[in-house]
Amino acid sequence: MEKKVCLLTGATAGIGKEAAAMIAEDNFKLVFTARNKERAENTKKYIIEQSGNEDIDYFFCDLASLNSIKSFTKEFKEKYDKIDVLINNAGTWESKLNYTEDGYERTFAVNHLAHFYLTHLLLDLLAKSNSARIINVASAAHKYARFNFDDPDSSKKFDFLKVYANSKLANIWFTNVLAEKLKDKNITVNSLMPGVIVSELLRSLPFPIKQLTKLISKPTTYGAKTIVRLALSEEVQGITGTYFDEFKVGKLSKEAQNFEKAQKFWELSERMISSKIPDFQSI
Ligand SMILES: NC(=O)c1ccc[n+]([C@@H]2O[C@H](COP(=O)([O-])OP(=O)(O)OC[C@H]3O[C@@H](n4cnc5c(N)ncnc54)[C@H](OP(=O)(O)O)[C@@H]3O)[C@@H](O)[C@H]2O)c1
Repeated sequence: MEKKVCLLTGATAGIGKEAAAMIAEDNFKLVFTARNKERAENTKKYIIEQSGNEDIDYFFCDLASLNSIKSFTKEFKEKYDKIDVLINNAGTWESKLNYTEDGYERTFAVNHLAHFYLTHLLLDLLAKSNSARIINVASAAHKYARFNFDDPDSSKKFDFLKVYANSKLANIWFTNVLAEKLKDKNITVNSLMPGVIVSELLRSLPFPIKQLTKLISKPTTYGAKTIVRLALSEEVQGITGTYFDEFKVGKLSKEAQNFEKAQKFWELSERMISSKIPDFQSI
């Protein structure tokens, strides 16, 4: 039987690294993206050691660059002709206002715009699977979002708590609209909250926040299992447009459930991409 292909972003640390190792145990061809060669090589070694699966591959992709995403998908398609599971997991939480090379605030750009664009570019390969799954790693932090359509990436009024929360609301809005658009295809799309988990996510945040969070954090492998369940379990086969909080269906904020706003946000995201990538094709 042909091996299934799983592509995962953000496998070089935290939850993604553990999830990659667990999925590789299931005899997948596991492919991940990385922005640093040394971290990529260490991750590949770790996944092989943990899973015993040597069918591990990686590609360079800096999610803070739309052109890097474009080049990566081009390279990927030269080697692979389908994707069975796409896990949009990579994330960042910047404490200061930093811009990507495309001129967008970095947390919003990496957490949302990058995955929005990446998924668009890979939909043709997902459609080639008998039954594909897209998993967007969001967060319960979406409940603290205050999204402003006139300042989508919070670059005019930067607040590091709000910008992260907004980016996670964006993951959920993206999931809900994409699930609706793909409802007649063999591709499901769900979002999740992995729990408050030990990882490197808070690396740039102030020390007291890191210390406080440590006290309530669960092990990295625990967070990874939420992703792995959505990637592999028969239980969730056919389920789409759903937000999972750890292992159960989660409660979305009122804002996150607002489908009209989600659609408006989708169109805004399209404009944000196409103003930088003129040949961007929306779905
Ligand atoms: N930890 C939690 O408590 C928690 C709770 C809710 C949701 N989440 C979500 O879980 C996901 C994984 O986060 P984590 O906690 O595992 O964080 P993490 O340990 O910091 O891992 C983040 C991953 O994203 C990658 N990444 C960051 N910026 C990138 C860029 N510009 N280009 C390419 N890759 C980039 C990192 O690569 P490098 O190794 O190169 O830095 C790393 O592999 C995120 O979406 C996060 O929002 C986490």
